[in-house]
Amino acid sequence: MNLRRIGGFIPLTVMLAMPLLMSGTLALARGLDDASGEELAKIIRGGLLYDSWFVELGVAPPKETHPAYAKSKGKGKGAGTWRCKECHGWDYMGKEGAYKKGRRFTGIAGIRGAAGGSAAAVVKSLQGSDHELGGRIPAADLTAIARFVTEAQLSVDEVIDRNSKKARGDLAKGQRIYATVCAKCHGADGKKVNFGDEKAPEYVGTVANENPWETLHKIRFGQPGEEMPSLIAFPVQVQVDVLAYAQTLPAK
Ligand code: HEC
Ligand code: HEC
Repeated sequence: MNLRRIGGFIPLTVMLAMPLLMSGTLALARGLDDASGEELAKIIRGGLLYDSWFVELGVAPPKETHPAYAKSKGKGKGAGTWRCKECHGWDYMGKEGAYKKGRRFTGIAGIRGAAGGSAAAVVKSLQGSDHELGGRIPAADLTAIARFVTEAQLSVDEVIDRNSKKARGDLAKGQRIYATVCAKCHGADGKKVNFGDEKAPEYVGTVANENPWETLHKIRFGQPGEEMPSLIAFPVQVQVDVLAYAQTLPAK
């Protein structure tokens, strides 16, 4: 919104509404604030399926490389190339985001353009030749994924600084949530669960710093196939506060 266009001055009503408008874009999700528990459950399912639909569904992943991936510039192979994030990124920005270079580059676009759009159009795309997921994911789950894409994905650069990778959150508030929700499973220092192995351990602090976009996605939706809860009913700023605090936890 360019305020200068409004007759050279900022009307008082617009000034008063500014914080509201801005928190609206941040949460993007005036829609989510209005969503019922049942709807949120579907959107959570969609976010988990975006992360790894075959883990969340508990099915064996295809062995062959995804046809669209094989045609892309990507260097990966096999099952992993079927995960949404492998082509479109944890930041939902595809070739414009974290995967714009390096070993995960594919040259495939992000999904930001589908935010706020039609869920039916996304389902159609998932059944079509770019994706070939029609026979692999049940219809209700395709709709759940589409609802995540259209209603719940974030404009991540608003909440995570692209260069420093730092979350724009409040550490003290984040620590309160972390202590309440996360510490039981991950420990107060985030080291109770090792996602890596003994040689190359990975903890909450490791992932939160190396890949804040992935960590935010998991804070918001949980971990596919695991007991980890979703924080989606809480404001985006709360989710970002948790991420900011997680970035202060030990990485080793
Ligand atoms: C193997 C790579 C690959 C995977 C995996 C993949 N996509 Fe796509 N997706 C594409 C390609 C290719 C396009 C067409 C855009 C382009 O060519 O860059 C596309 C387009 C889209 C679009 C349309 C974007 C727009 O703005 O119109 C959405 C939405 C989308 N994908 C969602 C998903 C979801 C959700 C998943 C996981 C269930 C997924 N994709 C998995 C390759 C992939
Ligand atoms: C009920 C237990 C439980 C709770 C509560 C929980 N988690 Fe998890 N979390 C898990 C499990 C289990 C995994 C998967 C571990 C694995 O893959 O080895 C996981 C995975 C993760 C990962 C992904 C690591 C990766 O790279 O795959 C992150 C990050 C994470 N949790 C952060 C959090 C944060 C932050 C909170 C609080 C908002 C939280 N978790 C709450 C159990 C939990």
